[in-house]
Amino acid sequence: MTVLDTDAPRFTGRPIAAEKRLGGAERARRMRDPGFGRVFTEHLASVRWSAGRGWHDARLEPAEALTLSPAAIGLHYGQIVFEGFKAYALPGERAGLFRPDLVARRLQRSARRMAMPEPPAALFTEAVTELVRADRDWVPPERGKSLYLRPILLATEAHLGLRPSAEYLFLVLAFVTDTFFPGGVRPLTVGICEDYVRAAPGGTGEAKYPGNYAGTLLAAEQAHARGCDQVVWLDARERRWVEEMGGMNVFFAHGPAGAPRLSTPPLTGTILPGVTRDSLLTLAPSLGLPVTEAPMSVADWRGGAADGSITEAFACGTGAGVAPIGTVRSATAQWRMGDGEPGALTLRLRETLLDIQHGLAPDPWGWVHPVSPR
Ligand SMILES: Cc1ncc(COP(=O)(O)O)c(C=O)c1O
Repeated sequence: MTVLDTDAPRFTGRPIAAEKRLGGAERARRMRDPGFGRVFTEHLASVRWSAGRGWHDARLEPAEALTLSPAAIGLHYGQIVFEGFKAYALPGERAGLFRPDLVARRLQRSARRMAMPEPPAALFTEAVTELVRADRDWVPPERGKSLYLRPILLATEAHLGLRPSAEYLFLVLAFVTDTFFPGGVRPLTVGICEDYVRAAPGGTGEAKYPGNYAGTLLAAEQAHARGCDQVVWLDARERRWVEEMGGMNVFFAHGPAGAPRLSTPPLTGTILPGVTRDSLLTLAPSLGLPVTEAPMSVADWRGGAADGSITEAFACGTGAGVAPIGTVRSATAQWRMGDGEPGALTLRLRETLLDIQHGLAPDPWGWVHPVSPR
């Protein structure tokens, strides 16, 4: 067992020998049409934590099924948090991690909320870097495609009293992901959810906690049945203020045409603080688009769309990038954003962010962390 000095975490283990890895032809076949969340890479980074020993046994291994006690606390009481971000192909051989430092901080905040140990940022970065190095061949070269990284921290102690676990497993796995709009960018139809709430003040909404997601599945199924791509969640108290989507934050573009500005709902504690959202708060002003963090009511959204003062709306997140909203449906109304087609500001932000992520545009904020092949 290695006890980790967190200043110098070191991963040992068994990267798969080159001759035992999947052949290039089979890998290319799997990567051709990867969709989202089903074409996994060959390795897994893992680190254990236990009370007394702290973080230890950092390994890079072949991705295999886990052995887990059926009494693991995480399975029963949901003491689990996770993350999601991407590595993009950069010009040349390198892959670029997008804002891993901010992702590490969000994971730490989520862990704190669930009474779990916080993975040190250096350990987080090393785990992710080791994995991306080992699975570099799985980073798709095409602009818009990427390697999605999924860190997860779960409570593994076999104990069914309700208290925080004394043992945890931190894993990083990865899958290949297509561009969100394989056939070309198209406007989303979104449905405002009036029956359920995603997060309440003081709850777990701003943590990346699995229960927040399981709790949205039924609403998402119902929204799909009425032709919506995504659910828009409202605040729990008044059911009036737009908060976010199931996996994306939301922005609005306000006229007049000559002096547009953006707004996005403020982080109230019930909204996931998206890394894409944070990036747009910096990127948009650099393109001459001021942004405010301001609440938006459903009534004002509808009214602004009708009188033309809200010209565009878009969702944003790691999975989708920047995704135009074309049509909004509530229980009693439906309205279109502009002519229902992707707006010019939305597309400009989408393309600029993608260019930065792929190392094709200047990155004055140091968001992209290149990983060199071994
Ligand atoms: C609930 C929720 N909101 C917003 C986002 C967007 O966050 P990010 O831009 O970090 O992907 C996500 C995605 O992880 C999410 O799950």
